[in-house]
Amino acid sequence: ANYGVGQPIQAILDTLFDGLQRLEYRGYDSAGVCVDAPAGEPGARCPLVIKHQGKISDLRVRAAEVLEENTLFAGELYSTHVGIGHTRWATHGPPNATNSHPHVNGPDGEFVVVHNGIITNHATLKPFLAKNGAVFVSDTDTEVVPHLCEYLWKKRGGKVSLGQLAMEVCSRLEGAYALLIRSARYPNELVACKQGSPLVYGLKRRDPAAANGATNGDATGRDQGGAVSSASRLSASLLGAGGAGTEFWLASDSAALLTHTRDVVVLEDGDLLHVDAYGRPHVFNSLAMTSRTLAKADMADLEVKREGRKIEAEVESIMKGGYDHYMQKEIHEQPKTLADTMRGRVVLDGKPFKPVKSSAPDVIFSGHFIDPCESASLFSGSNIAAASGAEGGFELPSRIGGKKARAKEPTPAGALFSGALLGAAAAATAAPDKAAAPASAGFMEEGIPAAGESEPFIKLGGLSDHVEGILRCRRIVFIACGTSYHACLVARKTLEEFAAMPVVVELAGDFMDREAPVFRDDTCVFVSQSGETADTLRALEYAKAKGALCVGITNTVGSAISNATHCGVHLNAGFEIGVASTKAYTSQIVALTMMALLLGADSRAKMPKRIAAMRALARLPDDAREVLELDASMHKLAEQLKDAQSLIFFGRGYNFSTALEAALKVKEVALIHSEGINAGEMKHGPLALVDENLPIVVIATQDAMHRKMESVIQQLLARSAKLVILCNTGDDAMTQFEGRGCTLIRVPRTVDALQPIINIIPLQLLSYHLTTLRGFNVDQPRNLAKSVTVT
Ligand code: G6P
Repeated sequence: ANYGVGQPIQAILDTLFDGLQRLEYRGYDSAGVCVDAPAGEPGARCPLVIKHQGKISDLRVRAAEVLEENTLFAGELYSTHVGIGHTRWATHGPPNATNSHPHVNGPDGEFVVVHNGIITNHATLKPFLAKNGAVFVSDTDTEVVPHLCEYLWKKRGGKVSLGQLAMEVCSRLEGAYALLIRSARYPNELVACKQGSPLVYGLKRRDPAAANGATNGDATGRDQGGAVSSASRLSASLLGAGGAGTEFWLASDSAALLTHTRDVVVLEDGDLLHVDAYGRPHVFNSLAMTSRTLAKADMADLEVKREGRKIEAEVESIMKGGYDHYMQKEIHEQPKTLADTMRGRVVLDGKPFKPVKSSAPDVIFSGHFIDPCESASLFSGSNIAAASGAEGGFELPSRIGGKKARAKEPTPAGALFSGALLGAAAAATAAPDKAAAPASAGFMEEGIPAAGESEPFIKLGGLSDHVEGILRCRRIVFIACGTSYHACLVARKTLEEFAAMPVVVELAGDFMDREAPVFRDDTCVFVSQSGETADTLRALEYAKAKGALCVGITNTVGSAISNATHCGVHLNAGFEIGVASTKAYTSQIVALTMMALLLGADSRAKMPKRIAAMRALARLPDDAREVLELDASMHKLAEQLKDAQSLIFFGRGYNFSTALEAALKVKEVALIHSEGINAGEMKHGPLALVDENLPIVVIATQDAMHRKMESVIQQLLARSAKLVILCNTGDDAMTQFEGRGCTLIRVPRTVDALQPIINIIPLQLLSYHLTTLRGFNVDQPRNLAKSVTVT
C-alpha cells in the first residue's frame, strides 16, 4: 500500500489478520505474517516475520506480544508498506511455527515467501540449493522458493528486477502455486505469481486525486487511447493505477477483498504481478517461455493486460448475519440460494413464478421470469454496460459470446445477442440498476425466449451451444469430490430418468488413480463448489487432453474449473464459508436437475413428468422454508443422539445420496463415526451391526423406493433397531412406526428427483446441532479445509 497518510503498524497488521481470517476456511492449523519493522536508524526497515501454530486469533495475540517487546514500533508510521500473510493447511510437515509461512532464505529475510499449492520438484531443488549454501529449517516444499530467489539473484549479480527474478524462479518450479514474494533487497515492492492455485487482486484508492495525479493514465507505458477496446481500457485503468493513496490487495479468494474493494482482476496461469517501488502494477505472462529463453527475454514484451471484474456479492454475504456460525447461516439461507440458482432459468410461461422473497429484485419481461444478471449479460455482450457507465467501470470479459464454444466457429457477440436486445432493453427500463450490473455468471448466458411459449422450459445459457453435442455423446461422466460427488449421484438418476442417458459417476481422485479411459465422444461434467479442488482439476485436464467435451458446474465465478471447461453452469449460491458444504450441495442438485430437464426436452413421452418437475422446482424454495421449521426438533433429536458412538443412515434410489451426504456431514463436523448405506445392500452385511443401541436414520419418503424402504424398516425393527424415520408429511403408512418406538421426521413431499434436497436439510440441521452440543468447531472441523488445492 502507498497510504498517502502514515499508518501505525497495528493498523497494517489488523488489515492482514482480517484478510487472513476471511481465508481461514482454506486451512487453519498455523499462520504467519511478514511486515516491516523499524531497524534502528531513522527510516530504516527490516522484515519482521511473526508465525504461530493455531488460528489467526492466536497469531493476533502473538503479534501483540511482539509489538510490546519491540519498543521501536512506538510512534512509527508507515506511508508505504508491503505486508504478506498466510494461513496454512499442512501438507509437508506437521503444523507448527517453523513449518508455517512466511518462509525466508535466512535470518535477514532477503526473500520472504508465502505459498498456496505444492512445489512438486522440491525434492530435487533442495539438495541442489543446499549444495550452493542454502540452509533449510522447515519440512515444507515452500522453503525452496526463497532459497531459489537468493541463488538466482546472486547468479545475476543482483542486476535483475524483482519481476524478472521471480519469473526465472517460477520457470524452475513444478507443481501448483500462488506465491507472494517480498524482499529486503527490493523495498516496497511485491511480486505475486500464479500457476494452478487461485490468486485475485484488487485495488482501492484512498485518495483518488492523489492516485490519478501520480500515474495519470499510463503507468504501463502503453497507449491507452482510442485504439484499445473499452474492455481493455477499463482493465488498464485498474492495472495502470497506483502511486500515492493506493492500496493493492492480493488473496486466494475475492471474499478476502470484499471489505476493501469490489474491483478485482482474477490472474491467469503463468501470470506474474509486479508492484514496483512506486506502487505501479504490471502483469506479465511467461507461459510460453522456457527458463533458457526467459533469461534473455525483455520483460516489456511479456506484459499483458487482464480484464477486471466486479465482485457482485454484498459484504453481508461474508458475514454471519445474526447466526452463530456460517454453517447455520448457510443452511438457513437455502430458500434463497435455491431460488438464486433457478433465477431466470426455469420459465413457466404465462405464470411467471417468484420463487422466494429474495433480496434481489426480480425482472419480469413478457410473461417470463428473467434473470436480472442474464439481462446484464446481454447488455455487456453488446457493449451497453460500458456505455451506461456501470459503477466502477467494469465490463464483462470480451470473450463472452464465443470463447467456450468447442469445435465451432466463434459466434460474433452481436449475432448471438441480436434476437435478445429488445428484451434486454425492456428489462433495463423496468429495472435500470439491475440491467447495468455485470453478470454474475462466467459461463455464457444468452437468449431470452420468445414470448407466448406455452410449455414451461429450462434455459441454461451456459450450455445452449452444447446441448446437441451432449445429446450425441457416448455417455456422461460426472467427476467430483466430497459433497459434490454426492450431488452427482443424484444427477445420475435424474439424467437416467429424464434424458435416458448412460451416466457414470467418478470420484476425481480414484478416476485419476485408475487413469480411467475417456473418449472423444464423452461428455465429462466437473462439479465443484469452489471450482478449484485439485483432484477435480487434474481430472479435467486429463479429460480435456483426451478430447472430451468438458462441462463445469461451480459456485465460483472465475475459478480454475469454470475457466478451463468448455461450457457450464454457475450455481449463484453466494460465498459458502462453512467448511462443510450445505447450500452448495442443494444448489448443485438443482443445477444438475435443470441440466437433465434441458437434455430431456425432446421427449414428448416424458413431458408431463418434466412439467411436474419444473413446477416442483418453482415450489422448492417454499418447501425448503417449511422444512427449516424442523430446526427445534432437530436440536431435540441431536440432544438424544449426541453421545452415540456411531450413526448409520439408510437410503436407496435418489436418497442413497442423502444417506451418504448426511453421514459425511455428521462425521466431518460432529466427529461421530457415521456411514451412509444403500438400503438395498443391508442384507449383505450391514444388518450384522444392528442392535438396540445403534441409532439408525432411515430415509423413507414417498418416492419410487417407498415400499422397499417400508420393508427395510420392518426388518430393522424385527432386530430391535433404534430408528429415526425421515418420511413425508401425510404419509399414513409411517404413523404405525411411531407406536413402535421410532422417531419420525416429517418433511414436505416433492417430485422424486428433488426430494433429496428437502430430505438433506433436516439432516444438515441435525449434524449442526450435534456439533454444537458436542462442543466442536462447526465451521472449521478438525484437520479439514474447504478448498483442497493439493492432490
Ligand atoms: C473438501 C471439502 C468438502 C467438499 C470437497 C469438494 O473436502 O471439505 O466440503 O465437498 O472438498 O470440494 P468442491 O469445492 O470441489 O466441491
